[in-house]
Amino acid sequence: MRILVTAASRYGATAAIAEAIGETLRSAGFEVTVLRPEQVGELGGFDAVVLGSAVYTGHWLAPATELARRIGAELPGRPVWLFSSGPVGDPTRKLAQQMGADPGDLPGVMKATQAREHRMFAGRLDRHNLRGLQRAATLAFRSLDGDFRDWQEVASWARSVAEQLSAAPAA
Ligand SMILES: Cc1cc2nc3c(=O)[nH]c(=O)nc-3n(C[C@H](O)[C@H](O)[C@H](O)COP(=O)(O)O)c2cc1C
Repeated sequence: MRILVTAASRYGATAAIAEAIGETLRSAGFEVTVLRPEQVGELGGFDAVVLGSAVYTGHWLAPATELARRIGAELPGRPVWLFSSGPVGDPTRKLAQQMGADPGDLPGVMKATQAREHRMFAGRLDRHNLRGLQRAATLAFRSLDGDFRDWQEVASWARSVAEQLSAAPAA
């Protein structure tokens, strides 16, 4: 079974999550291709799709929402899983919890893809990547700076995707 893993990422944190999901699915015996959304052509030989995006100001990045729209018609019969990556800072603090809310585009993406599930993962913020007001904002919220990605949680979710695919490959 061939699986496409694709995620939109501005500074690489979410792209690395996509790679890690791909690695776990490979270890489970699947043939996996990890691509940026812009690189995805027709779904052709893929049997299942994992689609993700970094979240910025409550929204997925355009390449991910555009891909969901573009491939929606090809998806019936191909199971889809979605993930987002965003929340930074202490997960017990209100700000990180607010960031963990579903991105605004999720209902539309769920509808377009008929995805089985959506999972939100913590992200990484490196203020050196930022300029201007965004950088100033992170100076005011220094606790948001850092890598909060939980690789065990990512691997465990990818294993659950693998288990679901092994149990019932078609939608
Ligand atoms: C300007 C800005 C806005 C952000 N807005 C959100 C948000 O609304 N929700 C969220 O969960 N994370 C938000 N984040 C955190 C990013 O999603 C997080 O840093 C993510 O890991 C970045 O992934 P990337 O490196 O793949 O782009 C924001 C980060 C920046 C710099």
